[in-house]
Amino acid sequence: MAEIRTGDVVAVTGAAGFIGGWVVRELLDRGYRVRACVRATDDETKVGFLRAMPAFASGRLTLHAADLDEAGCFDDVFRGCDGVAHVSHVSTYDDPDYVRRTCDHIIASIEGSGSVRRVVVTSSIAAVISEADIGELARRPVVDEDRLPDESNPKRTPERGQGYSMGKVIAERSFADAAASSPSGRWDAITVCPADNIGPILSAHQGRVNWQGLIGKMVAGRCEIFHGTGPYRPWMIVDVRDNAACHVGLLESTTVRNGERFIAMSTETRDYETIARSIDRVLPELHHDPGPIADNAPDRWKEREDEFRSIWAGLELHNERIRAAVPIEFRPFDDSLRDCVESLIAVGGIEVNRK
Ligand SMILES: NC(=O)c1ccc[n+]([C@@H]2O[C@H](COP(=O)([O-])OP(=O)(O)OC[C@H]3O[C@@H](n4cnc5c(N)ncnc54)[C@H](OP(=O)(O)O)[C@@H]3O)[C@@H](O)[C@H]2O)c1
Repeated sequence: MAEIRTGDVVAVTGAAGFIGGWVVRELLDRGYRVRACVRATDDETKVGFLRAMPAFASGRLTLHAADLDEAGCFDDVFRGCDGVAHVSHVSTYDDPDYVRRTCDHIIASIEGSGSVRRVVVTSSIAAVISEADIGELARRPVVDEDRLPDESNPKRTPERGQGYSMGKVIAERSFADAAASSPSGRWDAITVCPADNIGPILSAHQGRVNWQGLIGKMVAGRCEIFHGTGPYRPWMIVDVRDNAACHVGLLESTTVRNGERFIAMSTETRDYETIARSIDRVLPELHHDPGPIADNAPDRWKEREDEFRSIWAGLELHNERIRAAVPIEFRPFDDSLRDCVESLIAVGGIEVNRK
């Protein structure tokens, strides 16, 4: 069997990141031994929170330097590991050959490890829905694990902002194909496609990027609507703690099969303005004032905003498959927002814009 069991050794790539940090926490809470992989083990601003975990003091959590861009750099780290959570980003998604090379580096280290039985690969909802062509969402509104972006669409190019979606699909296939044709036949690869992560940060540096970074700007009264690659896109929510539980649950699952993919998403959605105005509702003690909400979209986008809103509103979001595969109850959005805001203030040092 490929699944991992409590007490096993698991390597986590991107361990200093928002999701990777929570995967480390979840694994430790469930009794695993964890090898946290980061690029620079001496960058205290990024790894201080890992060193502060009690399991680091005992040695159950160890830190390892590895850069995906270098072949062989995970060889020593993976040797003796039972599982790998490959969470990290790559340096660019706009070069498909480079993305394939980074996958090959990890795959070679898994093969060479002599021990890894399962890898969970962090993909993205962007590998399920591509925003290259809004008509695609209208034509195929069911968002589940069987959905892939239309790869024949001529708008699907890195130049049109599709590199991330393309790179994630490449990675999903690279791992599943490599496991299927593995000379050792020892391991399998399962994919998680998370939606838009919010929730508590574990380290100040995590509060400056991605969705939680946008919430930080809302808290500080510096609201600016995030449009993605088009006139409108709602946030498709997953709490980072639930996402981490999905990752570990899939490492542990006895029912999943090589190449299967799972969407980690609560199915709740919100738009930017609603989130900015919800902070005062979920935490009235803060007396938060979102301030003016800037919309810097070009006029040609503004003209099509209503059309985009109506297409996005028609999507059917599904998470049944992950809920059947792992024990998970997705948190309500309000809890994720509350905990995210509190951590941005307490851990991230963000000053609240008050009424
Ligand atoms: N955040 C979301 O809402 C979301 C949604 C869907 C999917 N995802 C996926 O989830 C994963 C983690 O995202 P995140 O939000 O946790 O991002 P994050 O906080 O920016 O963390 C990403 C980590 O990737 C590492 N990394 C980047 N390039 C690397 C390289 N060349 N070699 C080794 N490590 C490298 C960074 O390591 P250093 O610490 O060394 O800089 C960083 O800690 C990514 O694969 C992302 O595509 C995220």
